[in-house]
Order: sequence, then C-alpha cells, then structure tokens
Amino acid sequence: MARIFLIGYMGSGKTTLGRKLATRLNYQFIDLDHVLEEQAGMTIAEYFASFSETAFRVAESEILKSTAYPENAVISTGGGLPCFFDNMEWMNANGTTLYINLNPKALISRLGNNKDDRPILRDKHGDELLAFITEKLEERNAFYLKANLIADGLNLTAERAAALIA
Ligand code: S3P
Repeated sequence: MARIFLIGYMGSGKTTLGRKLATRLNYQFIDLDHVLEEQAGMTIAEYFASFSETAFRVAESEILKSTAYPENAVISTGGGLPCFFDNMEWMNANGTTLYINLNPKALISRLGNNKDDRPILRDKHGDELLAFITEKLEERNAFYLKANLIADGLNLTAERAAALIA
C-alpha cells in the first residue's frame, strides 16, 4: 500500500503534479479539496462564506482522516491542511509526504487569476499579496518542512517526483 501526500502553499501545483504523478505510477489520484466540495455540495469559496475558516479547517481535517483511500494513491491536499491540528503528523504516519517548495514570487506567478478562487488571497494584490504570502509561507514552513521529502517546485516534473519517492 502506498499513499503519497502532496503538500505546499496555494499555487505550488499539487493538483497538476498529482494527476501526472498518479498516471505515471499507475496510482489513483485524490484531491481532498475536491472531495470536500463534493460532500458539501459547494465550492471552497462558498464554504468559507457560508460557514467560517475554522469550520473549513475542521472539515478538511475530518476528510483527510476519514477518506477510504485506495490501495495506492497520490493525494493532493489543501495548502493549509498540514498546518492545523495533528494533520502533518497524521500524514507522515499514514503515508509519504512530499513538499513542493516554491518561493512567494513563483507562487504568485503560478496562481495568476486563479488566486481569486482562494478566499484567503482574493482581496490581496501587488505588494500586499507578496508580503502576505511571504509571511504566511514562513509560518507554514514550520509544518511543511516536516515532510518526508522536499522537492524544489521550480522544475518539478512527475518523473522527478517519482524518482524522489522511489
Ligand atoms: C487554502 C488552500 C486551498 C484551499 C483553501 C485554503 C490555504 O487549497 O484549501 O482555499 O489556506 O492555503 P489549494 O492549496 O489547493 O489552493
């Protein structure tokens, strides 16, 4: 049984890489935010607006721990998930964690207009956005850097990720 949890800040490419890696390894791909959206019947942005960020953090943690994972899976997680409750420890105990490490400027460039799908970033622009991500990433690195594997996200391909895991 193999479970590969992809972690990293918003825009690090967890979902895109996850799909490719799963195809390459012939594993199933699971996007936990997508599971939450299906279960709740609403988007993450709607979830934040209808409930609260705290409610979202509880819900995503419950989904992490209650999902019936297939035998072999690549799992893409929400950017904040490793940083709440004991989720980082839980993932390390129940699979292999791979952190996709990218600097704030690269994250912003990759997020592009898709940043508006993220309630936490939606209202921030320019220097304010850069300062916000820089500060948050520093805080979150206390959790992300507990990952079993750390990959430089700049030139990360499914082939490179597969070689790291092997
Ligand atoms: C969040 C990241 C998002 C989503 C939510 C909150 C975060 O997932 O879970 O908007 O706090 O970093 P992605 O990392 O897939 O964008």
